[in-house]
Amino acid sequence: VSEPVVYVDGRFVECSRAAVSIEDRGYQFGDGVYEVARVYDGRPFKMREHLDRLARSARAIRMDLRGLDSLERDALELLHLNGWGNRDLYIQATRGACPRSHCFPRDLEPVVVMTAREAHPYPPALRRQGVAAITLSDDRWARCYIKSISLLSNVLAKQKARDEGAFEAIYIRDGFMSEGSSTNVFIVEGDSLVTPPLTNYILPGITRATVIGLATGCGIPVAEESVSRERLLVADEVFLTGTTTEVMPVVTVDGVRIGCGAPGRTALRLFEQYMRLVTG
Ligand SMILES: Cc1ncc(COP(=O)(O)O)c(C=O)c1O
Repeated sequence: VSEPVVYVDGRFVECSRAAVSIEDRGYQFGDGVYEVARVYDGRPFKMREHLDRLARSARAIRMDLRGLDSLERDALELLHLNGWGNRDLYIQATRGACPRSHCFPRDLEPVVVMTAREAHPYPPALRRQGVAAITLSDDRWARCYIKSISLLSNVLAKQKARDEGAFEAIYIRDGFMSEGSSTNVFIVEGDSLVTPPLTNYILPGITRATVIGLATGCGIPVAEESVSRERLLVADEVFLTGTTTEVMPVVTVDGVRIGCGAPGRTALRLFEQYMRLVTG
């Protein structure tokens, strides 16, 4: 089996030969932004949207990230060098390397790293069964719309979920849910979907937008409204959305059964539609 090829600062190299400076600000400060796009049968899904969000994240941290078109070409070349297939395309842009100091030089060149690891979709049985989620207090900063590589809170939240036998941790801020540690959250009430509105406290998920589009397209009403923890617990259905999570039904939250404790039909219907879209 040949080694995966990765992209580092303009060059394609075997993963074990790839290197970045220890003075890279991504390493020193978590000073960078990223994207993950899923590649279905060689085709990156919503690539434009991911690149646009990367550009917005970069702008929001005052990083001068140019050449997104050439980045897209390089991403396709990376997929080609890795044999296409089903992959998770990871794109990271850090502010660059310089002697460690909080302030950043204005003329620093961002360092872009890309990997295209084989995708590992969740087993169908998991989705048929549904997953558990826990809630926890949202202790993140107030700029969650930036897809920052500084993910300490998210890492600790997801690990807490795993340690408690759950799949995802749902952040609660001032009594209202914001999002999961790596997903957006929807509830179903009757025939309608409800998901928190796009504020600075959540990432504008690309899967979230896709699912809203799919629901609207098949006549399911969607409200973008704040959802309290109490309202979450009594929802008819709960599900998560994300690039690698796709659409995942949640059947318990903090040990409380959601609906009848099995994946809801709205979530499963939207999952089916989503898979049709990504492979279509
Ligand atoms: C905090 C957070 N919210 C939401 C999402 C879902 O976003 P998307 O659907 O664009 O993958 C992610 C994805 O990684 C995330 O990290």
